[in-house]
This record gives sequence, structure tokens and C-alpha cells, in this order.
Amino acid sequence: MLTTLIYRSHICEHFPPHDLKEMVNAANLKNGQADVTGILLFNGVHFFQLLEGPEESVFNIYQRICEDSRHYNVVEVFCDFAPHRRFGKAGMELFDLREYEREEVLQSVLNRGTSKYQLIYDDRALQFFRTFVEATEKENYFEIPPADSWAFVSDDNSVQSASLPAEITTECSFAFQPIVDPLAQKTVSLEALIRTSSGEGSAAFFSGLEGDEVYKADLKSKKTAFALAGAINVGARTLSINLLPMTLVRIPEAVNFLLEEIEVNGLVPEQIIVEFTENEVISRLEEFTSAVRQLKAAGIRVAIDHFGGGFAGLSLLAQFQPERIKINRELIRDVHKSGPRQAIVRAIIQCCASLEIMVSAVGVEKPEEWMWLESAGVSHFQGHLFAAPAFEGIPAVCWPEMLSAM
Ligand SMILES: Cc1cc2nc3c(=O)[nH]c(=O)nc-3n(C[C@H](O)[C@H](O)[C@H](O)COP(=O)(O)O)c2cc1C
Repeated sequence: MLTTLIYRSHICEHFPPHDLKEMVNAANLKNGQADVTGILLFNGVHFFQLLEGPEESVFNIYQRICEDSRHYNVVEVFCDFAPHRRFGKAGMELFDLREYEREEVLQSVLNRGTSKYQLIYDDRALQFFRTFVEATEKENYFEIPPADSWAFVSDDNSVQSASLPAEITTECSFAFQPIVDPLAQKTVSLEALIRTSSGEGSAAFFSGLEGDEVYKADLKSKKTAFALAGAINVGARTLSINLLPMTLVRIPEAVNFLLEEIEVNGLVPEQIIVEFTENEVISRLEEFTSAVRQLKAAGIRVAIDHFGGGFAGLSLLAQFQPERIKINRELIRDVHKSGPRQAIVRAIIQCCASLEIMVSAVGVEKPEEWMWLESAGVSHFQGHLFAAPAFEGIPAVCWPEMLSAM
């Protein structure tokens, strides 16, 4: 299947642009053998390359290009199938934008195209070219330093519950994971994650339960969460708990139960955030919204977890405005390398900024993911890069420190 892939990247300082011709000659040879064609634009700082050919060949070459140390911040902006090649004339032509007058540059690029495509502006791939050539996208590049310019240093401040409260039944327990502001070196919140008493995750806890038993167990488990939070002394920090939306809908006294348990354990409603998963919220939206009103009236704040992972998308924010959203891991994974994920995350951030909704990113594992998200305007993070959940305790946090050599 004829595949088109476009990426952009940043030239490394140690790669002199006059060596480009030699690299392109070698690339041309390889591309010719692999039946891959395309065009490589260079503006003195950034590369922008279109590769087209059989799917496997394009992916193989792209993988090698990604590993090439002569450039960095390689971001895939477009990958799609096409009926014809757009730049089928050459193995790979280098087009140095600096050698052309501003007005003629776009036409000159398009003149390199296979005739059929020369002037078709509504072709998406060519629109990306236009944007690059006209340099209208630069402010969104968020170029980040290499991963090894940071060290992640543990603060060794872990806390383990010394004496487990009586509420720890044989049924359930909790692990706690910090949500951090890495640049301010501050833990902004702790999330209580349900575990079985032997430490298995939520699927194991809920397995075997049916119908309303699920909601009853879900609610009752919060008694343990608050008791443990009291025992490990969360202090004035914000505590996030997860609740199934239907628990609020099916159990009329749920909010009162939560309020009582919050008080018994020396916590206050204002420090509690209840997180709901996007997919579950949307299926019973009306009933859910009225239950949430009760939470809000009691001073408890509300967050949407796994935002962007379900089918509701941004429209959910028109129906229901939470205090916080947590961007789904699927969008966070390798966000520094993916143009589509960057575009979606930017839209979420912009929309939430207009609505004064706090955004946090979950499942952050790589320094590059964190750095890209910081540049894009996210400041709260949860993930193994900083701290994994600690069973019945608070884990130490690894804070980023910029290495002085940089
Ligand atoms: C901006 C840029 C564009 C490149 N384009 C191609 C290309 O189109 N085809 C190609 O085979 N190599 C290209 N390369 C070079 C590859 O990254 C890699 O060095 C080359 O494929 C040799 O890989 P190998 O030593 O693993 O065989 C490019 C490198 C850079 C920095």
C-alpha cells in the first residue's frame, strides 16, 4: 500500500549544513533501492521531509532517520495512504528554502511534485508543506532538550503507614501516588488507588462482583481510603479518590457516607477530589450531573480521569465542567514524537485554560514526554518518571535536576 509519511526535525549543531548534500546522495541511493521517493526541505534550522513508497520500506527508512544523531526532536506530523506519489520524480530531493525568494518558494516546492498534484492545495500532505514553507507553525514546535540533560533525583521522603487502621479489611487496601509539580518541586496531590489486600489492582478487586454489589464495594472502599490517608498523614495535601459514576446514581446516601468518613478521619471535604472516568460519565450523563451537584454543594471537587480516551471528547466540557482533567495516557505516550497527539493535547490545554480547568498528565514515563508537556503548558504530572504508587504509603519522589553541563 502506497504510504506517505511526513516528519519535521531540528538539525544538530555538530552537523554542518554543507554536509547535507553528501547525506542526501547516500539517502537517494537507499531510497531508490527501496522504491521510496520524496522531498526534503531545509530552512537552516529545521528539516521537513516527505517519504512515500511501500508501507514497510517507508517505516524502515523512517525508523533509521529517527535514530540519526544529526538531528533531534523528530516529530511525525502525517502518516496516511495515498493513491499516487506526490513527489515521485526523485529518490529524495533536497530543497533548501534559503535559496529561494519568499514569494516563489511554495510554488517552487510544488513544481517538484508529480504533475497531478502540483496545484492541489486541499491535499492534506501539501497543506503541511505550505504551513512549513510559510513558517506559520513554529510557535507550536516546543523544542525540548535531550532526555539526558536532566537527572531525576529521589528525595527519599517515603512514608509507610506504621499501624494499619482497623478499616483495612481483608477485602481492600490502597496505594498512593503523588501528582507533582516538578519544576516547583511540590507534591500537589495524592491519588488513592484501590488494591486488594494483597496488592493487586482494581480489576482484581472488582472481579466476581455483580450488579449493585460493585457500587456498594466501590463506596465502602472509600472508608479504607480515608482511614489510610489519615494514618499516613496526608496533612493538608489534596487527596484524589476514584468513584464509579453509577455509585453516586445507585446509592442515594453515597455523598453523606463520604462526608462522614472524611470527617471521622480528620480530613476536610475541600481537600478531596473525586475522579470519574470519561467513558463512565457519558453513558448516564443526566443522572450523574445531578449526583455531582451534591458533591460540589458539600465542597468536594471533581475531576475527569482518562480524558480524551473515550468517545465524549471536548464536548463533555460543555455539559459538565470539572475542576481538573487528567489527560489519558494514550495521548501522553510519546507525545514528543507525534504531531497528531501534540495537536490534540494542545487543544485540550487551550480549551481548559479558557474554562480555568486544571490539566494534569498521567502515566508520564519518559523525560521527553514531561518536557514536551511542560513546554505546552502542563505543570501537574503523575507517573513512574516521578513516583510509582506505594502500597499503603507515600512513595519518595524523583525530582528533575538540570545537569550543569547543559
Ligand atoms: C534529515 C535527514 C533525512 C534523511 N533522509 C533519509 C532518507 O530519505 N533515506 C535514507 O535512507 N536515509 C536518510 N537519512 C539518513 C538516515 O538517517 C541513515 O543515516 C541512513 O539511512 C543510513 O542508515 P544505516 O547506517 O542504519 O544503514 C536522513 C537523515 C537525516 C538527518
